[in-house]
Amino acid sequence: MRIVIVSNRLPITIIQEKDDLKFQDSAGGLATGLRTYLHSQKVSDYLWVGWPGLSVQNKIKEKLKSKILNEFKSFPVFLDEKVIQKFYNGFCNKTIYPLFNYFTSHVTYNNDYWESYMRTNEIFCKNIVEMIKPGDLVWIHDYHLMLLPKLLREKISDLRIGFFLHIPFPSYEVFRLLPRKWGAEILEGLLGSDLIGFHTYDYTQYFLRCILRILGHDHNMGQVITNDRLVKVDTFPMGIDYDRFNNSSLGVKSEIDKLDTLKSSGQKIIFSIDRLDYVKGITNRLEGFEVFLEQNPQWHYKVVLILAVAPSRTEVEHYQHMKKEVDELVGRINGKFGSIEWSPISYQYRFMNFASLAAMYKISDVALVTPLRDGMNLIAKEYVASKTNNDGVLILSEMAGASKELGEAIIVNPNSIVEISDAIKKALEMPHEEITRRNQIMQDRLRTYDVFRWGDDFTTELLLTKEEQKTFDLKLLGPHKKDLLECYNNSSQRLLFLDYDGTLTPFTTDPRISGEPNENILKILRSLTEDPKNEIVIISGRRKEDLQKIFDGLDLCMVAEHGVFIKENNKEWQLARPLNTDWKPKILPILKMYQDRLPGSFIEEKEFSVVWHYRVADPELSSVRAKELLDDLVSFTASADVQVLQGNKVIEVRNSGINKGTAASHFISKKNFDFMLSIGDDWTDEDMFKILPPTAYSIRVGMIPSYSRFNLHNHREVIDLLGTLVKTDVK
Ligand code: G6P
Repeated sequence: MRIVIVSNRLPITIIQEKDDLKFQDSAGGLATGLRTYLHSQKVSDYLWVGWPGLSVQNKIKEKLKSKILNEFKSFPVFLDEKVIQKFYNGFCNKTIYPLFNYFTSHVTYNNDYWESYMRTNEIFCKNIVEMIKPGDLVWIHDYHLMLLPKLLREKISDLRIGFFLHIPFPSYEVFRLLPRKWGAEILEGLLGSDLIGFHTYDYTQYFLRCILRILGHDHNMGQVITNDRLVKVDTFPMGIDYDRFNNSSLGVKSEIDKLDTLKSSGQKIIFSIDRLDYVKGITNRLEGFEVFLEQNPQWHYKVVLILAVAPSRTEVEHYQHMKKEVDELVGRINGKFGSIEWSPISYQYRFMNFASLAAMYKISDVALVTPLRDGMNLIAKEYVASKTNNDGVLILSEMAGASKELGEAIIVNPNSIVEISDAIKKALEMPHEEITRRNQIMQDRLRTYDVFRWGDDFTTELLLTKEEQKTFDLKLLGPHKKDLLECYNNSSQRLLFLDYDGTLTPFTTDPRISGEPNENILKILRSLTEDPKNEIVIISGRRKEDLQKIFDGLDLCMVAEHGVFIKENNKEWQLARPLNTDWKPKILPILKMYQDRLPGSFIEEKEFSVVWHYRVADPELSSVRAKELLDDLVSFTASADVQVLQGNKVIEVRNSGINKGTAASHFISKKNFDFMLSIGDDWTDEDMFKILPPTAYSIRVGMIPSYSRFNLHNHREVIDLLGTLVKTDVK
């Protein structure tokens, strides 16, 4: 199986050096982690699709493309300068990145940027569709391409699509700052995947909460059923290539020797490395170090902070400001405490290659990893893994995803420079046994859940989700439609039960306003009723007056209030059996109280039932209130002859012993029908499905477990089916 990785940036970046184009490994956790996974034996074949980091002239594109394909197994998506400005520097790095990292004051809301984001996701989609092969698994990465899963799904419906987010997914309160349309499209875009992964449990929960609140999709243990598909959402903390770092011959000898000389002069080394990014908390870190030096003069001349920062997103203003701030701060601290013999901070503004990085990990005594926010942070993990001699202490921000796994580090709140300063002191003075104890626990964990396990877990779960979807698909009417039509044509006594809301029309937010059926539906129903072989029953929870109005003039049977009233063709409405309503005055005040306690909820009163609707109320408060109301009602109605039922965003109280099943039985017993069809979309329709003979065609609308034999995706497919019955009938 070929894995097609899709990310904004390829693992290599093209660098312009005078007239020459060179390739450099891309920085950042995504490129680092995935590169390792793909090169492992676990992956038999792969291709990486992404932007090569530079806009290049048209005339060299083809040549570059084949070079990148051959040498790096990568497929470049070339973006022109304007797109890079609005998409990459714009929507990605001035809108999503700061927002998802909780830097809400850095966020720009610009419609042009959004348009460019949509267009660029489409460009990626087009490129992928051109090169995709049957059997490929597509794994999309990160915030630049959140619309892509849905776009791809629309083109290739059965494609295996996974998505992984490498930055935090914010809480609902922050996510909702995005204009509603953008937010909804991003969530829908992501739900085009089969599996969506996040680094931590919190991010997963925040995402699930957002899709509930914004799109109205609930979940069950991370399984989301959208209109027609099952999507899995889960947590996969990204690991590292443990063995590569936990290797005693790691690092370049010359660099290790140089650092060793520093150490043998009696100095301890604190190491810090990041992309120059405001989320990384570099200034707080420097200020923490400054406070440490102020409060601990005994450490002067005995410690040096090696601060390595890699240039990043240099065209975005917030990044440019940072460079200036860091330069000034380093200058100030060195000026304040340093002398000719000692500079407390050694500052390097450059990209660091693997060998130098490995040497630094190996020799340094403390790693200072204090981001203000970070999706995961692999530096922290790499550092711990590199400590084969257990001679290093990790100071780690609680705001990094990695802190969820590395609890034995010295955990700090990066907003407190005092905590950072205290942690530095504690780290420098920590006894060796304690360092060893802590590192060993963390190393065990990192060894077990390494990057290979991470990649495997994700891809395996993606394949499993695909299998689960199949068991879902099995009930789809599609393959059985032909049989149904044949049976319909060969029969002479047919009974058709059709629910109304959600089956013949889409659901309305307020059931008090009737969703009028369109002309087409009425036409189809009319044709069906004109066939003497057909008996059509509209079987609904609505009031009889509503049904009367909607189906005025059609020669059909109707059932109102879930079976309470029955009307046969041209006859009058009949009460199914004598019922009383003594219970209503007792129940209504309780429902009224809940109506007041849940804004947006309301009561619908019918002749023999009362319903509390909460379809448009706050979804989270609704579920709390609904549980409370159910509790109250159950004890209140214990001695009355009523039933309390919870349905799709409703709680209904009605006389017991009456339901759509009892009403359907009434019709079934009338004749010897040789074809029966029953379609409904709600829990109340289940009563009807249950009593039908096994040969009847029962269909539930929506992909929901049901007593029905089949499922259809939505009401449009119901209309199609009924339309086909009319057309194919050979009379
Ligand atoms: C973070 C993001 C990655 C990104 C990397 C480097 O790790 O999650 O998607 O590639 O930073 O940023 P850049 O903007 O240079 O691609």
